[in-house]
Amino acid sequence: MPSIKVALLGFGTVGEGIYRILNERKEEIKRETGCVIDIVSILVRDKAKERLATPGTRITDDIQEVLSNPDIDFIFEAIVGEEPAYTYLSEAVEKGFHVITANKTMFAKHGPALLKHAKFRRVNFGYEATTAGGVPIIRTVTNLLLTDRVRRIRGVLNGTSNFILTKMRNEGIPFKAALHEAQALGYAEADPTDDISGKDAFRKLMILSALAFGSQPNWQDVPVVGIDRVTIEDVSDASKAKLRYRHVAEILIDEKGLLHGSVGPVLIGPEHPLYGVDGVNNAIIVETDYLGALTLVGPGAGMYPTASAMVGDFLQMIGKHEKVLVTS
Ligand code: NAP
Ligand code: HSE
Repeated sequence: MPSIKVALLGFGTVGEGIYRILNERKEEIKRETGCVIDIVSILVRDKAKERLATPGTRITDDIQEVLSNPDIDFIFEAIVGEEPAYTYLSEAVEKGFHVITANKTMFAKHGPALLKHAKFRRVNFGYEATTAGGVPIIRTVTNLLLTDRVRRIRGVLNGTSNFILTKMRNEGIPFKAALHEAQALGYAEADPTDDISGKDAFRKLMILSALAFGSQPNWQDVPVVGIDRVTIEDVSDASKAKLRYRHVAEILIDEKGLLHGSVGPVLIGPEHPLYGVDGVNNAIIVETDYLGALTLVGPGAGMYPTASAMVGDFLQMIGKHEKVLVTS
């Protein structure tokens, strides 16, 4: 039986989730694809750290061990920040690896160039997990664009912010304690500043903008406000008025083709489609010419939702591109 060899860059919340799913679903994957998945190497920063046992898989802190291994077909990237991730993935694409990433900090800025490069090198590049965790928004918008035109996208794009606002409202838990809980559950970034300042939602919005409209607005023209100034008193006053805070990111294209984006907390009433979206859930409303409005809701962060989006990209690539695999 043919084997597909993969490497994981990063073995934190998301990387470990990929490892677990590929192992837990090994037999189903074998049956459905006719291939054995072999996790050859895992790249980490600190080899001495205690972590899940991974028998038969090499743990390395040297990226060249991965990129110079011609047996590897796919690279899953789940490390942190713009660099060195962009440099690693540029080299991976250049060398002909298929790539799947969860790294929105890197992809918001370099996604368009990486996708162009991947197309030129005839390799697959998946990025479903960069935006809204387990919610299949990239796949959905990609499919919609075959027949339709997107006009506006708005929604809750940061699970940590929504989790904190929900905890403050439902349980009266102060901001800091709710943030600690989000960190313990693996929802928050290694440094949660970008979650609570709105930057994380902004980057996801830019990824959606590039996909839906083929371009991004000037980043500095988009007002970005986080939930860090929302107090428990604000949340309680809103509840008394039957209102809720939601952290909403929005991008729309006007009649002249100009893009307008915004990111920040808004107060919404019970009639609003985002009113019931609580906890770590994300929700995205996509408005198009033909379909009208479509809303997707689901877990926006965490080990299994995010890793399942990446494994989904991977299995779709195997299914669609067996020829690419054979010839790569
Ligand atoms: P994490 O738990 O902090 O894990 C990061 C992993 O990457 C660790 O294994 C770390 O190595 C490794 N790493 C970091 N920098 C590295 C470098 N320069 N070279 C080699 N390895 C490096 O982070 P995470 O939550 O899994 O997130 C990973 C990526 O997915 C991030 O880009 C994040 O924004 C994105 N993401 C996360 C979620 C989520 O719910 N957590 C959802 C969607 C997307 P050590 O273990 O040795 O420290
Ligand atoms: N920290 C991010 C969030 C992870 O809370 O939404 C998912 O991208």
